[in-house]
Amino acid sequence: MSVNWLASRSSGLSGMASVPGDKSISHRAIMLAALAESTSVIDGFLEGEDTRATARIFAQLGVVIEAPSPHTRIVHGVGLHGLKASAEPLDCGNAGTGMRLLTGLLCAQSFDSMLIGDASLSKRPMARVIKLLEKMGAKISAREDNFAPLHIHGGQVLHGATIDTQVASAQVKSALIFAALYADGDSLITETRATRDYTESMLQSLGWPIEFSAGKALVHAGGKLKASHINIPGDISSAAFLIAAALLIPNSDITLQNIGINPRRTGILSAFKLMGGHIELLNQRLQSGEPVADIRVQSSKLHGIDLPEHLVADMIDECPIFFVAAALANGTTRATGLAELRVKESDRIASMVKGLRDMGARVTDSPDSVEIVGGRLHSASIESFEDHRIAMSFAVAAQCIDGVTEIRDCANVATSFPDFVELAQTLGLNLK
Ligand code: S3P
Repeated sequence: MSVNWLASRSSGLSGMASVPGDKSISHRAIMLAALAESTSVIDGFLEGEDTRATARIFAQLGVVIEAPSPHTRIVHGVGLHGLKASAEPLDCGNAGTGMRLLTGLLCAQSFDSMLIGDASLSKRPMARVIKLLEKMGAKISAREDNFAPLHIHGGQVLHGATIDTQVASAQVKSALIFAALYADGDSLITETRATRDYTESMLQSLGWPIEFSAGKALVHAGGKLKASHINIPGDISSAAFLIAAALLIPNSDITLQNIGINPRRTGILSAFKLMGGHIELLNQRLQSGEPVADIRVQSSKLHGIDLPEHLVADMIDECPIFFVAAALANGTTRATGLAELRVKESDRIASMVKGLRDMGARVTDSPDSVEIVGGRLHSASIESFEDHRIAMSFAVAAQCIDGVTEIRDCANVATSFPDFVELAQTLGLNLK
C-alpha cells in the first residue's frame, strides 16, 4: 500500500521525546544473543521492519525469541554451533545491515542458507562482502556475483586472515568479524576510515577475546559468548531529523532523551555545530557500555560550510538531512567523499538532488560530492524513492516553507522509525 505524507510550515517545536532504539545495535544484539550460551534480555529493541526481519530469521534458524512487551526481546541463545538450517529462504526485507552481517555469520555454518531481500536490497552491492569472505574460505553464489538472492554454501572451513576492508563500511567489517568467530586462527580486520564499532564492543562485553581500536580489530579464535542484559539507547540517526527540525524552525526548543552518542555516530552533531547550531549534550552517561546523553536543541541561524571529509563516515546516514539543513542555511555548503551514498536504500545523492531542485534549491553534484546554495525553498511534490531517510528529510524541509508539500511512498519509514509521524506531531511538526 502506498503511503503519502502532506507537510507544511511549523510555528515551532517544543517538548521532550524519546526516539526508537538504535537500529545497528538492535540487529547486532539479536545476532550475538542468539549465539550466546544461554538466555539474554534485550531492552530498547527497535520495533522496525529491518530489525524484526532479523529476529524472524533467527527464529527460522531455530532460536527461541520471546517478545514479552514492545521493545523487549528474550533470546534463548543456542551457542556458536547451535543454529539449524532453514528450509525456507531468509528474508532480510529492506535491511542491508541484516543481509551483510548474516552473510558473514551464515558462511561459517555447517548448512546451506538462502538470503533474499526486497527490490531495493536486491539491487545493493554484496560483492564487497562476498569477495572478502572468500579470502577466509567462504563459498557464496550471488546473482551476477554481486546481488541477492545469495546462496551461502555451508560446510566450509574458514581460516583466520588479515584483511583490509577497503571501503568505509561497518557492515563489511562486521561481516568479516562474524566469520572470524568461526575461523581456525586469529583474524586482523583493518579499515582505512574507522566506522561504527558496535560489533567489536558488544563481542567484548559478551566475553569474546577481541582487541580493537579505531580502524582495527583483532579477533581471536576459539571464544564463547556469555548471555547478557543489553539496554539499547535511542538511535541518533532517527534523532537527527528532529534535531534538524528544531534547529531550522524558529521558536523551537526540544530535548531528546537517552540518545546514543558513540563518537563514530556523532558526525552530524559536529556538522550542525559548525553551521552554527545550538546543541547541548546533557546528562552524559554510559548505558550497557555505550555513551548516551539527552540532547537539547534550540532554533539557530545556520550558515553553509565546507564539510570536513573526515566527518562523513561518522554521519553517513545523516547526509540527507544535512543536505536539507544546507539548502535552508545562509550561504553555500560543499561536501566531498560521499560516494557511499550512491549505494544506500536509494542513490541518496540523486534522490536528494532531485527533491531539493524540485523545491527550487540550487544544487550541483558529482559522483562523490554535492554543492548546495542555501536559500528559500518552495513546496513541491516529492518522490522519496521508497527510502525512509529521504522521506523524513523532506518532511523536515517542508516545515520551513510556505504551501503544502506532498511526499510520496513513505511506507519504508517503518523500517527504522515506525512512529515518526506521531512523534513529530507531538513535538509540533505539521505532518500527516
Ligand atoms: C550500518 C552501517 C552503515 C549504515 C547503515 C548501518 C551498520 O552502512 O549506513 O545504516 O549497522 O553497520 P555501511 O556499512 O554500508 O556504510
